Amino acid sequence: MDIRYVIAIDGPAASGKSTTAKQLAKLLHYVYIDSGAMYRACGLKALQKGIKLTDHESLKEMLSHIDIRIEYAPEGNKIYLDNNDVSARIREADITRLASEIAVIGIVRERMVELQRKMGEEGGVIMDGRDIGTVVFPDADYKFFMVADVKTRALRRWQEATEKDEKLILEEVEQELLWRDKNDSTRKHSPLRQAEDAILIDTSAMSIQQQVEYIYQIVREGKCMK
Ligand code: DC
Repeated sequence: MDIRYVIAIDGPAASGKSTTAKQLAKLLHYVYIDSGAMYRACGLKALQKGIKLTDHESLKEMLSHIDIRIEYAPEGNKIYLDNNDVSARIREADITRLASEIAVIGIVRERMVELQRKMGEEGGVIMDGRDIGTVVFPDADYKFFMVADVKTRALRRWQEATEKDEKLILEEVEQELLWRDKNDSTRKHSPLRQAEDAILIDTSAMSIQQQVEYIYQIVREGKCMK
């Protein structure tokens, strides 16, 4: 697509954001940026350096020279932290939790927002996360907020893991999602919430294909929300 829109997709974990955003980016020839991966990389770096999340001085120092790079790859974006490919490591359970914990810290969010704005400044970008439509790009051309009931989301996560031969217990996946929903939506700084001008999509009964098609049609119509 020639017009270089900024498209924001927010919502809780496993609501369908990233799979939809990835496929949509391919269709539109846009860049896909997974902002959650950046918080995950921050959590990993703090862990590697043995920095406690209460030690804001050390975190500040760490953030001043953190090097996070997102590179396109046909099988899915690669995430580099200080030139190391951490794409698989940041998806592990300890980092999933740590990402949510580090994301409550104001100085961490300020730095990530700064980097995210830089990455999206030229448009032609789809960014997904929790605060893209509310804080990172409040003037985004299109904003979507994806939700799904927790049982559906837990099942999706469990199926993804099972396909990769990871053995998870469905009830535990659901508990972890509920914990993250609460942590992400009750924090002081930029909590997860729907922007007033975002289009709400409940994906509980939708296939990925339907989600992609739905957003694609809206964007192709070219009626900017602004
Ligand atoms: O999208 P994800 O599950 O990879 O995100 C991991 C954590 O990062 C999530 O629990 C909260 C945080 N996050 C955030 O606070 N703001 C964003 N824009 C994206 C993610």
